Amino acid sequence: MALKAVIFDLDGVIVFTDQFHYQAWKKMADEMNIYFDETINNRLRGVSRMDSLEIILERYNGEPLSQEKKEELAARKNENYRALLKTMTPDDVTDEVRETLAEIRKRGYKISLGSSSKNAKFILERVALPDAFDAISDGNNITKSKPDPEVFLKGAEFLGEKPADCLVVEDAEAGIVAGIAGGMKTAAIGDAVGCGKADYTLETFSDLLKILV
Ligand code: BG6
Ligand code: MG
Repeated sequence: MALKAVIFDLDGVIVFTDQFHYQAWKKMADEMNIYFDETINNRLRGVSRMDSLEIILERYNGEPLSQEKKEELAARKNENYRALLKTMTPDDVTDEVRETLAEIRKRGYKISLGSSSKNAKFILERVALPDAFDAISDGNNITKSKPDPEVFLKGAEFLGEKPADCLVVEDAEAGIVAGIAGGMKTAAIGDAVGCGKADYTLETFSDLLKILV
């Protein structure tokens, strides 16, 4: 087996926007009198904005909500979230991540983003990584969210590589499951390590350099 490309999740792998997602959803949930905590927030990792809303609404006890109202709630959350993203700077990406990405490319691997987020490009610009990837597959080019493999299959396609030659790097169990479903190799970091499903476990981001020799 010779890997040729790497597909990276964004939130929780390259940047740590989890707290911003939490704060933005929490504000919306409080306004709607819906119970929401960090444990529920963990279930939103890798899940699309509308699917995340449905998870939060499991605790909603009011009048039934129309699709239009749900879209309004998701838009409200996204406004809160983007206001928080605007506070991000290049310092929000560690030197370790920057240097590891550059070294992986130097070693001849192609790299793509594989993120469920529709804000991915905005985030990459905020943290000064707009040209760090050979391709970007994100929430704007998919119809099905992780654990469906679509976002990673598109990433492989954009790079012109076969799924079996790609390594997916993920912090969410939904993302590891998606990578496996797509026929890719998987590396778990952070929260995803616990699920025990990935081919590789990363203690720290630069451990990738031990796999991608
Ligand atoms: C993923 C996050 O990267 O993007 C999820 O892990 C989030 O928590 C999803 O819901 C969609 O993000 P956005 O930016 O399109 O609302
Ligand atoms: Mg993630």
